[in-house]
Amino acid sequence: MVKKKRIYICTECGYETFSWIGKCPGCQSWYSLQEEEDTPGRKNMTADTAGGAFKNLEDIEPLEEKRFQSGIHEMDRVLGGGTVPGSVVLVGGDPGIGKSTLLLQAALRFASKNYKVLYVTGEESLGQVRTRSTRLELPSCGLAVLAEMEYSRIASQINSIEPDLVVIDSIQTVMKSELGSIPGSVVQVREATASFNQIAKSKHITFFLIGHVTKEGAIAGPRVLEHMVDCVLYFEGDRYHNFRILRGIKNRFGSTNEMGIFTMEPNGLLEVENPSALFLGNRSEQAAGSIVVSTMEGTRPLLVEIQSLVTPSYTGGTPRRTSAGLDFNRVALIVAVLEKRVGMQLFNRDIFINAMGGVKVMEPAVELGVAMSIASAYRDTPVGEGTVIVGEIGLTGEVRPVNRISERLREGSKMGFQRCLLPQGNLDAQFFPGRDLLEKETELVGVATLKQALQMGLE
Ligand code: TYD
Ligand code: MG
Repeated sequence: MVKKKRIYICTECGYETFSWIGKCPGCQSWYSLQEEEDTPGRKNMTADTAGGAFKNLEDIEPLEEKRFQSGIHEMDRVLGGGTVPGSVVLVGGDPGIGKSTLLLQAALRFASKNYKVLYVTGEESLGQVRTRSTRLELPSCGLAVLAEMEYSRIASQINSIEPDLVVIDSIQTVMKSELGSIPGSVVQVREATASFNQIAKSKHITFFLIGHVTKEGAIAGPRVLEHMVDCVLYFEGDRYHNFRILRGIKNRFGSTNEMGIFTMEPNGLLEVENPSALFLGNRSEQAAGSIVVSTMEGTRPLLVEIQSLVTPSYTGGTPRRTSAGLDFNRVALIVAVLEKRVGMQLFNRDIFINAMGGVKVMEPAVELGVAMSIASAYRDTPVGEGTVIVGEIGLTGEVRPVNRISERLREGSKMGFQRCLLPQGNLDAQFFPGRDLLEKETELVGVATLKQALQMGLE
């Protein structure tokens, strides 16, 4: 008898080895390797989408640019204006964040636009799906629902129904019993994804695959599938806030820097049309250390409050520096520039700095805002009322121009801010769209250096 070979696969990143190791060399996570049977053909399971002889590029018909739109604008935008027929979209997120709710809502919306939609659930009973749909208060519109985990039975239902869209909730529950590995293992989820990919490409059906992000590594996470699918979206949120962010990580048909914002309400996910209002919600204007920046999330401007607290450091050694929602290394760099170019004594201070509301602001255009926030907290002086700050900081303390200035300024003026500190470089560039209109409503203050910004901004 031939002895079956064993291999070990990381449930986080898919790293493979023939002997068990405690720490995965691929992604450094601990105890994530799982034993699998090394079945023949395991490595050749990607979809045979092309096949046949080669063709000259100019002889190939380009694909028709067609998109399915759910009507949930926040989701359609993240997908690049709707999903492309025949694409596979992976929606990852922590358990309980609202993935099933989002995709049931999307499925019902698609169904109401006369698309044929199949919702496959391996986690809940049909009754539970029905209960959720009544909670959502949306009409059913002939949505087909299937409670099934076995791949072959799902595939045969897809064959007979011939849907336009299929939702698989979740990919970790789908199994091919002929494989011999347990449901949720790396081999199972990869096999199932490859097979769905094949169906998607051959029949032009769009698949949404839900994938749970797992901490304990017992089941394979969505990361092991990212390279196999066309789009990867992550649904994130904060346990302490009711808003949820849908973020594009990979998109073969659009940009990846868009994000969609929702709030979780008793009757499902609600789109947030004015996110700036949400993030500035409880702001107390005249507090030292609190400032507002105008940041771009993809094509959309967003106003976010940044707060700092600067206190004497009593620890003696290295002072504490913590930041939430901001790039820690950039904050360190800004602190160094404040010390060296403005002469602010920060080496014996603890600095705590947060982007409020649980958002992450990573782009360089918020640097001037971060610096002003720290300076305002350090001097215990608030930044002038109704001010928005944009600008990138260079190592010599100069304020560098930023892109998309008119969108950023317009969002500020739309939200009632009357004054904007912006790079002199942007102001010197004679023209940006809508400038005359803006200048009527907003006082534009150009600054060339950080030092000058502090003089103008902190009275
Ligand atoms: P769910 O979509 O089941 O999360 P996931 O599929 O990502 O595991 O949603 C989980 C939470 O959302 C659950 O705690 C209840 C809450 N929820 C609402 O607040 N409002 C609603 O209308 C629904 C359907 C769920
Ligand atoms: Mg779910």
